[in-house]
Amino acid sequence: MKNLKHYFQKAQKEGWAMAQINFSELNQMKGACACAKEMNSPILLGTSESESKFFGLEEAVALRNVLQKRLAIPIFLNLDHGKDVEYIRKAIDAGYDMVHYDGSKHPLTENIKNLRTLKKHIGWKDVLIEGEVGRIGNESSRLYNEKFMINEDDLTKPEEAQKYMNDAKPDLLAVSIGNFHGIEASGIDPNLRLDRLDEIREKIGKNVPIVLHGGSGTPEDDIRNAIKRGIVKINVNTEVRLAFTGNLRRALSADPEEIVPYKYLVEPQKSVSRVTKAKIKLFGSEGKI
Ligand code: 13P
Repeated sequence: MKNLKHYFQKAQKEGWAMAQINFSELNQMKGACACAKEMNSPILLGTSESESKFFGLEEAVALRNVLQKRLAIPIFLNLDHGKDVEYIRKAIDAGYDMVHYDGSKHPLTENIKNLRTLKKHIGWKDVLIEGEVGRIGNESSRLYNEKFMINEDDLTKPEEAQKYMNDAKPDLLAVSIGNFHGIEASGIDPNLRLDRLDEIREKIGKNVPIVLHGGSGTPEDDIRNAIKRGIVKINVNTEVRLAFTGNLRRALSADPEEIVPYKYLVEPQKSVSRVTKAKIKLFGSEGKI
């Protein structure tokens, strides 16, 4: 089985992006993987610190291994928005393929220092690390009624991205370009600042793989244009949670007497497959194994 680095390099060369589908529950994991199998697409599964504390780091790795063997497709695991260096080390030791160090709350120097510490811990292990410069707003936990106001100061500053890449050298860089977690109530988030993405690209060079967070609700044309500019991974969580939870609520309220999980969890699981399918199609990773 080829490693994650291989797929990011392939994505960059061929102009597509890998979907990172977040999960905190086995049916979400199975729904996403079943779809990746159907689409013959590599897939990255993500867990935030909280999602993985609920699910278990070792459980995530073990079940990934089972699904990977059963489905015979590449299924990778990323610790998303790791903020605690000690916890990120645990994910690396548990067998995650990738970790995202979110040091965006810290001054740049500390963000760089912590990422370097984690790189030392990774050593020669086949684990990738994603760094982040700039602040990505909101949370993947609801529809926002209020309009998202872009704070210019939170956007990734191209000079800082350049310094970060020179000094910390993560394998991938997450940027803040008007993207945010969660979805506006309209279902469509504001447009990405592709001009800022171009300025960042100009400073960091054409080879650095860039990550887009907040993949739910982003206008499709923006996604296509971002991929053209070398975005190789797009994170999706809110749309998965909305589909899963909405279908679970519907299934339970359609028959209040129903108590059999393997019956009422069928539709929620399928709904995760449907969201994943739409993303794989949009991101262009179909048939890329
Ligand atoms: P959304 O919840 O907007 O899809 O963002 C997910 C994300 O970026 C996880 O890191």
